[in-house]
Amino acid sequence: MTAISLKDVRKSFGRYQALKGVSFNVQEGSVTGFVGPNGAGKTTTIKVMAGLVRPDSGEVRLLGRDPFEDVEVMNEVSFVFTRLMYPPTDTVLEYLEDQAAVFGGDVKKAIEEFDLKVHLKKKLSELSSGLAQRVQLAAALLKSPKLIIADEPAANLDPPARNELYERIKELNRKGVTFLISSHVLSELERVIDRVVFISDGRVTFEGPLGEALDRGEEIYLLVDNVEKALSVLSGRDVRKDGAYLVVRVDMAEAISSLEKAGVRVLIARRSSLDEAFKKYTNLGG
Ligand SMILES: Nc1ncnc2c1ncn2[C@@H]1O[C@H](COP(=O)(O)OP(=O)(O)O)[C@@H](O)[C@H]1O
Ligand SMILES: [Mg+2]
Repeated sequence: MTAISLKDVRKSFGRYQALKGVSFNVQEGSVTGFVGPNGAGKTTTIKVMAGLVRPDSGEVRLLGRDPFEDVEVMNEVSFVFTRLMYPPTDTVLEYLEDQAAVFGGDVKKAIEEFDLKVHLKKKLSELSSGLAQRVQLAAALLKSPKLIIADEPAANLDPPARNELYERIKELNRKGVTFLISSHVLSELERVIDRVVFISDGRVTFEGPLGEALDRGEEIYLLVDNVEKALSVLSGRDVRKDGAYLVVRVDMAEAISSLEKAGVRVLIARRSSLDEAFKKYTNLGG
């Protein structure tokens, strides 16, 4: 089953065409990245899915239903935006209670699950980015959604808060929640997504498994504890030295496992292809 399906969605603001025919699918059960540079059309696309912006043409389906015709589908879909779109003078508790009044759900349980007890009296405007994100996710989960669509949720988070967000996403995904998460930085999402949709200048340029987006002939950089031995293990393959690093063009997992089997420790393994894939599909490199 397809959790999200967009077909040829177009949207202009005045004479400027922000979405030039956006089409993609998000598979149920996936954590899909929605990646493209600033101005590519991510937020507009997400607002279309949220019913906040009506497209000029095209087809939008969330869980097989049209959000403009069948608003009930929103009982099963939650949106998380970068900033809390809510009166800033409301407290955390008021916000959660209002959301529960609209969508149902157990506020007490949410407070416990997201460790919000000591924060309930804080005004939304006073929350750190990490805490605001946690509160939004708690609110998003009140209705037990099957699908969560998040627009740059990690944008203002420091690394620990980002890790916490990703751990929660992974845990929810294991319980069956499908995610679409946008970002203008692919490497930021690398640890959490299994599929990716690239958008550039109002058009989708790639969709598929993350691994497919990466160039097969990618170069990987390895820092090892024994260069000579590593060279002999990898002999016969495309290998060269670059400073302290070995540069190889082979499958990273396979290279590391054959080195480690031979007793060579791999201290650092780095591939540049995430950034290369990003450039390739977003025209930033040209
Ligand atoms: N309400 C609007 N009025 C005019 N132009 C807009 C509006 N919303 C977005 N745009 C333009 O549409 C393009 C896509 O914007 P957006 O969807 O916010 O991109 P992203 O989220 O990928 O950065 C940008 O050029 C932006 O300036
Ligand atoms: Mg945006």
